[in-house]
Amino acid sequence: MSARPILRLGSVKDVTSFAEHVHSLGLNIPCDAEVLCGADSPLLAPIEQGGIHIGNRIAVQPMEGWDGTADGRPSELTIRRWRRFGLSGANLIWGGEAVAVSHEGRGNPNQLLAAAHTREGLAQLRKALIEEHRWMTGSENRLFIGLQLTHSGRFSRPNAHDRPEPRILYRHPVLDRRLGLAKDYPVLTDGEITRIIEQFHGAAKMAWELGFDFVDIKHCHGYLGHEFLSAHTREGKYGGSFENRTRFLREVVQGVRSVAPGLHIGVRLSAFDLVPFQPDPAQSSNGKLGPGIPETYDRLIPYRWGFGVNPNDPAQVDLNETIQFLALLEELQIRLVNLTAGSPYYNPHIQRPALYPPSDGYQPPEDPLVGVARQMNITRQLKRLFPKLIFVGSAYSYLQDFLPHVAQAALRESWVDVVGLGRMILAYPEILCDAANGKPLQHKRICRTFSDCTTAPRKGLPSGCYPLDKYYKTSELAEKLKAAKAKR
Ligand SMILES: Cc1cc2nc3c(=O)[nH]c(=O)nc-3n(C[C@H](O)[C@H](O)[C@H](O)COP(=O)(O)O)c2cc1C
Ligand code: SF4
Repeated sequence: MSARPILRLGSVKDVTSFAEHVHSLGLNIPCDAEVLCGADSPLLAPIEQGGIHIGNRIAVQPMEGWDGTADGRPSELTIRRWRRFGLSGANLIWGGEAVAVSHEGRGNPNQLLAAAHTREGLAQLRKALIEEHRWMTGSENRLFIGLQLTHSGRFSRPNAHDRPEPRILYRHPVLDRRLGLAKDYPVLTDGEITRIIEQFHGAAKMAWELGFDFVDIKHCHGYLGHEFLSAHTREGKYGGSFENRTRFLREVVQGVRSVAPGLHIGVRLSAFDLVPFQPDPAQSSNGKLGPGIPETYDRLIPYRWGFGVNPNDPAQVDLNETIQFLALLEELQIRLVNLTAGSPYYNPHIQRPALYPPSDGYQPPEDPLVGVARQMNITRQLKRLFPKLIFVGSAYSYLQDFLPHVAQAALRESWVDVVGLGRMILAYPEILCDAANGKPLQHKRICRTFSDCTTAPRKGLPSGCYPLDKYYKTSELAEKLKAAKAKR
């Protein structure tokens, strides 16, 4: 655990003190003293590149919903969330939320599905978002809306929230054990993979027909697309060499281009990873989670089950293959890249830095600002190497009251092209538009990384900001979450 107690950012009184605090931690996080407004605001500058027109530099990150119907259509709650995405004023909507390409590939039994019977529902989501965006900003011009397409692979739970039904590409020495997989648990065959690739094509075609501007071929967070990239030990044409491990991407892209010409393609990538973490057993007791420590890996060297991980020391990042992957995206003429990290299932502190852990997590093993700085600095490094790609950066929500100052500085100094917001959107969707339009921030609405939006789905409840969004705070869902947490 960190040597000194973590300073709660809510108690930091002003931006100067925040910058001093960042400096005292030895971190490099850019921060502007003043947030500029209107035409001067870097947050409101448009992007025009290669047929992509995005009206400002704010993105809504995808956030899986856990509130669709059993057959994968949106519910009233899903539509409400997409309206709030529109309310944010963000002009880039990166996928809204992960939409599964097949029932078996759903990450939870209430995840949205791309299928003939959900077509109308998906169209309704897009329409609701556009209406709200227009109401908020007066225009729908230069709104760029994507649909994130996914297969949950190892983390599939299509039929019950407490019944994993993993679809795996290879045997993983740590994650197989965690999922309780028997020695003869089957891996997906090449034929099954072909079928999944066709499902991606079908889903992309539907997104295109419904008017979405792009689809994201999800390659992050331990789900299937991401697992391909670390399939070093898989035999056959989808495993082993870099070329084989990226065959899935190439085959999906090729098919999407033929069935949906004109549809843009984006990729959300876990740019780096680390070994799985767990709560330190020596410091966990009576249901209290200890600080996160890496799983023992001395017997697993060279580590061959990760992407963007140093095989000789898998507690360290290695960007060699990440760089190769970005070069491949350029070659495939994919311009939209959204960088994230790790997985919410096995190392959440690197993916979504938080002060308070979700129910299946651990106490922060580092100041969460270290996690923010890690993602920001790696994005900066990769942006410098690939200046023509449009990079969306992640993990800004932990910055809380200082988010506008940091986001503006990161854009101004070209660390990133678009600032993506996840959790903060659930709590306070308009935060960056408020800041860039000279409105005072509503401090009571700022996400404090309580992680209830992650804990709720782990307990089979819809995701949402239970502590701060009035709808959840006052509904019976809040009572259910309280009871579910008490059972832990
Ligand atoms: C409740 C919840 C659901 C999420 N679902 C998705 C998802 O469907 N697809 C995805 O790529 N990332 C997902 N994420 C990750 C976020 O997009 C984002 O990368 C992460 O929360 C860090 O950004 P933040 O600090 O702004 O929250 C989810 C995060 C949360 C909190
Ligand atoms: S529940 Fe709300 S305050 Fe907590 S992390 Fe999620 S969005 Fe932030």
